[in-house]
Amino acid sequence: MHKRHLLRASAAAAALMALATTLPAMAQDNVFKIGLILPMTGQQATTGRQIEAAARLYMAQNGDTVAGKKVQLIIKDDTSLPDVTRRLAQELVVNDKVNVLAGMGITPSAMATAPLATQSKTPLVVMAAATSSITEASPYVVRTSFTLPQVSVALADWAPKNGIKKVVTLVSDYGPGIDAEKFFNQRLAFNGGQVTEALRVPLRNPDFAPFLQKVRDAKPDALFVFVPSGAGAAVMKQFLERGMDKAGIKLIATGDVTDDDQLNDMGDGALGVVTSHHYSAAHPSPLNKKFVEAFEKANKGLRPNFMAVGGYDGMRVIYEALKTTKGAGGGDALLAAMKGQVFESPRGPVFVDAQTRDIVQNVYLRKVERVNGQLYNVEFDVIKDVKDPGKAR
Ligand code: PHB
Repeated sequence: MHKRHLLRASAAAAALMALATTLPAMAQDNVFKIGLILPMTGQQATTGRQIEAAARLYMAQNGDTVAGKKVQLIIKDDTSLPDVTRRLAQELVVNDKVNVLAGMGITPSAMATAPLATQSKTPLVVMAAATSSITEASPYVVRTSFTLPQVSVALADWAPKNGIKKVVTLVSDYGPGIDAEKFFNQRLAFNGGQVTEALRVPLRNPDFAPFLQKVRDAKPDALFVFVPSGAGAAVMKQFLERGMDKAGIKLIATGDVTDDDQLNDMGDGALGVVTSHHYSAAHPSPLNKKFVEAFEKANKGLRPNFMAVGGYDGMRVIYEALKTTKGAGGGDALLAAMKGQVFESPRGPVFVDAQTRDIVQNVYLRKVERVNGQLYNVEFDVIKDVKDPGKAR
């Protein structure tokens, strides 16, 4: 009896399995799948939260049917561990047969996924990670975030003109930090300034205290900082607690530090901090005002940061490529349709360089100010159409 029951159950299971394999095959033609891999938990969780919210907003505003295909977003949490990113990407390509891979919260995740994009000819839209060399890791990478060389150089041009000659740099010890350190240093030296000491702090569980103590003792004109999105508030807190500002040391940074996701909680100590970056929630364009309003409305008042904009624009690049190709031609056709896109982003005008597959965009100098009771990065200067200087090697 028991055996017969089991047999019948396994026959039913086999039938179901057969159905399950034919159904997706039938549905496949009309579904366009985006495998969005993000850090939804762990140290980089704010990046995942921002990009997911932005991708969902883009779909809510633009519909989920494009060129007759139903767009399906499959979100996976890689906890920002590159081995997990690679495994999830593999599953998304092999099992889910995604048309596009996207996300990539940190550089090691993007680097771990790039070979798979190449092998499977799947476009990989990098929405967050920002080490210059990522686009060179696979011809299938297209980037909608930024690069650290792109934003660091502007600050090294600004600093010496504003009384800052001697600088200590403090960066997270991995790809983007090393890019920021190198390009800031070279450009500052070119402009007659000098990096007197280059400090690197671990990416995981950083303790800034001993590094900041060193900086205090060295008494440079300024401390230049890069830490990834999510870690800025801790740096700011410890900088202020040690009275570094009162000791006459200015804090200058890439906009990752005065991250719109955290800035408003940093307090008045953050006022006046000058940063360079490609996006501020306070960017004064009608398109950005609409974007910020819609994002905050859909997310209980959460302010979008630069990660959100990378995700939003990444979805735009994917949607437009799908429209152009009408869903035919596979990964290579999609990739070709992603290259060369020119459009207005909430950050300003952008261009996906067809040669490098990297984003060309304005870089802004900004100062933290209080506007309508809230802290914002207020733009005061712009360098237009900046290509990644990291590519000119
Ligand atoms: C990166 O890992 O490439 C990365 C992450 C967060 C940032 C910038 C770069 O804010």
